[in-house]
Amino acid sequence: MAGEHPIPVGVVGTGRGLSLAALFEATGFELRALCDVEGAPLEAAGARLGVATYTNFDRFLDHDFDAVVLANFFHEHAPFAIRALAAGKHVMSETAACHTLGEGVALIEAVERSGLVYSFAENYPYMAYNQEMRRFFRAGRVGEFRYGEGEYVHPDPAEVKLARSPGFDHWRNWIPATYYCTHSLAPVMFITGTRPVKVNGFVVPRLR
Ligand SMILES: NC(=O)c1ccc[n+]([C@@H]2O[C@H](COP(=O)([O-])OP(=O)(O)OC[C@H]3O[C@@H](n4cnc5c(N)ncnc54)[C@H](O)[C@@H]3O)[C@@H](O)[C@H]2O)c1
Repeated sequence: MAGEHPIPVGVVGTGRGLSLAALFEATGFELRALCDVEGAPLEAAGARLGVATYTNFDRFLDHDFDAVVLANFFHEHAPFAIRALAAGKHVMSETAACHTLGEGVALIEAVERSGLVYSFAENYPYMAYNQEMRRFFRAGRVGEFRYGEGEYVHPDPAEVKLARSPGFDHWRNWIPATYYCTHSLAPVMFITGTRPVKVNGFVVPRLR
């Protein structure tokens, strides 16, 4: 529920970032500024929403808001989160939190140093069917959790897929299949109340 004092926020990335911004008024946030490296769509979004726009992240951080929402490229969130925390901003980061284990350690250290809030935005547990599965599980109607497999598959018609991930270099076209794991892992954790204690990662080769 929106509070009396909305949290002033800036958003990085005008793809997913604008979908989140559309929910701000209803959820207690006030959009103050947008940041993107693509100038034209950024200007259009800024004019439509009546907020400041920046193509430079450091100048964006100088703007007056309390929290940053990171919806830039999937594999580039940690360095931006660390810079935002150092600038005194709370952070909500889209998946993924980091690209390497080293970045993960640096991110945790930056959060601890800052004393600010770092929120990892993983929304799939809150989808209606996952909430319903949680109720079933908690009521004992599913049994004991012994083994699960999860996969994040995003089936789209070709024109949607091409628009969502244009060009060979777009991150959606090259990230390893195991990287976007939070959309499948988080619902399992939410439903069962369990946490992973050991991780195995492997690739199944595609044989022709
Ligand atoms: N939780 C969900 O359901 C959900 C849905 C869609 C996307 N996402 C996540 O949101 C993030 C963004 O996804 P997307 O589909 O919008 O990706 P995208 O690649 O379409 O858009 C990323 C945007 O960030 C901008 N950007 C890149 N580097 C920048 C920089 N240095 N400074 C400022 N802006 C920069 C790009 O120009 C682009 O507009 C990803 O991490 C993705 O995983 C989550």
